[in-house]
Amino acid sequence: METRPQEGRKGPPRRAVPPVVGLLLPLALTSALLYLCLDWLFVLPPRSAGEPGRCPRGHFRMGPMSNCSPWLSCEQLRTEVRQMKRVGEGAVKKVFLSEWRERKVALSRLTRVEMRDDFLHGLRRLKSLQSKHVVTLLGYCEEDGAILTEYHPLGSLGNLEATLSLPRYQGANTWQHRLQLALDYVGVINFLHNSPLGTLVMCDSSDLPKTLSQYLLTADLGIVLSDLDALPLVNRSSGALAKCGHRELRGDFVAPEQLWPYGEDVPFQDALMPAYDEKSDIWKIPDVSSFLLGHVEGSDVVRLHLFDIHKACKSRTPAERPTTQDVLDTYQKVLNLLRDAAASQTREML
Ligand SMILES: Nc1ncnc2c1ncn2[C@@H]1O[C@H](COP(=O)(O)OP(=O)(O)OP(=O)(O)O)[C@@H](O)[C@H]1O
Ligand SMILES: *[C@@H]1O[C@H](CO)[C@@H](O)[C@H](O)[C@H]1NC(C)=O
Repeated sequence: METRPQEGRKGPPRRAVPPVVGLLLPLALTSALLYLCLDWLFVLPPRSAGEPGRCPRGHFRMGPMSNCSPWLSCEQLRTEVRQMKRVGEGAVKKVFLSEWRERKVALSRLTRVEMRDDFLHGLRRLKSLQSKHVVTLLGYCEEDGAILTEYHPLGSLGNLEATLSLPRYQGANTWQHRLQLALDYVGVINFLHNSPLGTLVMCDSSDLPKTLSQYLLTADLGIVLSDLDALPLVNRSSGALAKCGHRELRGDFVAPEQLWPYGEDVPFQDALMPAYDEKSDIWKIPDVSSFLLGHVEGSDVVRLHLFDIHKACKSRTPAERPTTQDVLDTYQKVLNLLRDAAASQTREML
């Protein structure tokens, strides 16, 4: 598991400035420090520190709760959860902001019986993959087609630009935070590719908006996976591969091996479509990361530093693409390098 970089929230120790230095130096010092600290001034709620505090399987803890509670039962979901307004809808689920014991929670309901298998697959995955990379499960009821999860008010990752332009989050609209988001995103894919169940492929990702809608932005600007309805297993040693759905995929967001290989003249046939492995997820990383980096001061410099690793992700031969760990290592190196560069630039200014 990757380690989160020191966010440096405390800032550097303060030196006493002798009174003789006049007016200019303190002024330069303040503005330089301000520049350096801009990132730190934006104070985020403390991020939950890794996995040690996690609850045993079948239990959850949310927000300020100090103890773990067992997942809510059908009975509890029916009587204790008050459904309020709809906040999202996909092919499989309708999601409602709801209330449970004076807390906001998210209640997902199966939309149509035809989608029941996907719904149950998603629930099974959600139960097995509880971690900091996945939305917290609070309870479920298979009979009623209901899943209760932690509510994330910022909603889907697709809302990122809107969120970062809110006054409360503008201070986080920096290349540092946005590169950190890319690290978080690749962290989720890395978790899926090395999950306790084996190597899982993130199939619900046929285009960029679809991909982004599978993730939620947390209030402390982290990323969690919320939709686990399409995560088939692959296994290199047994040669087990996967296909994302039974229909033809098109466009250049999906990996080349996900496209129908026999040309326009041969009609698509699921049975003839070759299967592939998790490297199809690696192909998509540069596009998602580029969205996450956005267009703020410094994001083009970051892009420049990520050019080579992203080029490797776009290798047409899946086996030549890097692993999620390779990508994480490179992202982390670039983050450290550019942070150091920004810090020494500030020191030179003093
Ligand atoms: N815990 C949550 N907190 C806040 N919003 C949520 C939560 N879970 C889901 N949503 C919102 O609801 C939308 C739909 O949820 P979800 O992706 O699970 O539905 P789906 O039917 O499985 O979608 P798909 O068609 O991609 O399979 C999400 O994109 C998100 O905007
Ligand atoms: C992958 O396949 C190998 C060989 O068949 C098997 O031993 C292993 O348990 C499989 N792994 C998973 C996660 O299914």
